[in-house]
Amino acid sequence: MPLMNDYLSVYADYRSRIDEMLLNSITRKLPATLYEPLNYALNSGGKRIRPMMVIFSCETAGGSFGSSANAAVALEMLHNFTLVHDDIMDNADTRRGEPTVYKKWDSNVAILAGDQLIGLAYVYLLKTEIPNISEMTRAFTEGIIEVCEGQSYDKEFEARKDVSISEYMLMISKKTAKMLETSAAVGALIGGADKDFIAVVKEFALNIGLAFQIQDDLLDIVADEADFGKKIGGDIVEGKKTYLLLKAYENTQGSAGHKLLEKIINNNGLKNAGTKEIEEVREVYEESGAVSCARQEIEKFTDQAMQCLEKLPDNTGRQRLKWLAEMLMNRKI
Ligand code: IPE
Ligand code: IPE
Ligand code: MG
Ligand code: MG
Ligand code: MG
Repeated sequence: MPLMNDYLSVYADYRSRIDEMLLNSITRKLPATLYEPLNYALNSGGKRIRPMMVIFSCETAGGSFGSSANAAVALEMLHNFTLVHDDIMDNADTRRGEPTVYKKWDSNVAILAGDQLIGLAYVYLLKTEIPNISEMTRAFTEGIIEVCEGQSYDKEFEARKDVSISEYMLMISKKTAKMLETSAAVGALIGGADKDFIAVVKEFALNIGLAFQIQDDLLDIVADEADFGKKIGGDIVEGKKTYLLLKAYENTQGSAGHKLLEKIINNNGLKNAGTKEIEEVREVYEESGAVSCARQEIEKFTDQAMQCLEKLPDNTGRQRLKWLAEMLMNRKI
């Protein structure tokens, strides 16, 4: 088994090549109110996790970086479309440590930049040279449809007072895990995988995606704001039905902490909450055991993902997928 450092350098290498392709993807300059925010959204950092999922899945199936790079870029563009629109929906001021597109420009600019990213994503996806392009395009399109469903649930749940953990799981499987599943499926198709392989790699990515969103919910409250690049406590302000809120609410029945959570639920968030209020909620999350439950769930879904990997061919691609899963579990950003 190669050293962990080798995996990190493969990631760094692929990431910089994908970044380069994203940077060169926008050739037009006018209208500036479209292309400037587009450039800004695509070239502001980001972990590039979905491209890695495409490429590593393709490699595991027997393909290469070269054959999957355009599709990897397409998945990152699609992801950025979801982020640019998500920030409008979530009233989020910062992402990747910088003002969000709708804050720097306005909502109309952000809507159009997001729309354009879908078109651009198809341009890149369809550069891929494989015999069965329709199957890949179908998988990609299904991904878009499910993300929209997931984002709708996310917004619906803000106003609902009785969301269950299983409804939450459905919501995150669509809004977050589906994009990773789509990345894995597209990569595998490019690598020439058969149906069984595709089903397993999708299940791997689904589990990674579930762990990923629970961790995103957790980081919203425990991360360092400068590292995370997003405002801490944003989900509390907005009244998001996160794993932490639902679990802490369940665990605190009858205690003082429960009242505070009830206030968030009844008022659809804690608008104007300052650091002191956010800190109080964080304490309830910790003392109720919700934080440790979240950590257990992240570990559980990552373990399930690892078990899926055992069913795939034992090669370099699979080792890279395993490294990716471990890296995501320990992430702080
Ligand atoms: C953020 O995704 C949106 C979620 C699905 C939680 P990432 O955490 O992958 O964001 P970037 O692309 O690295 O900034
Ligand atoms: C991520 O949900 C889902 C999508 C962007 C599709 P969040 O709203 O939690 O993502 P962040 O925290 O803003 O990145
Ligand atoms: Mg959101
Ligand atoms: Mg958001
Ligand atoms: Mg979040």
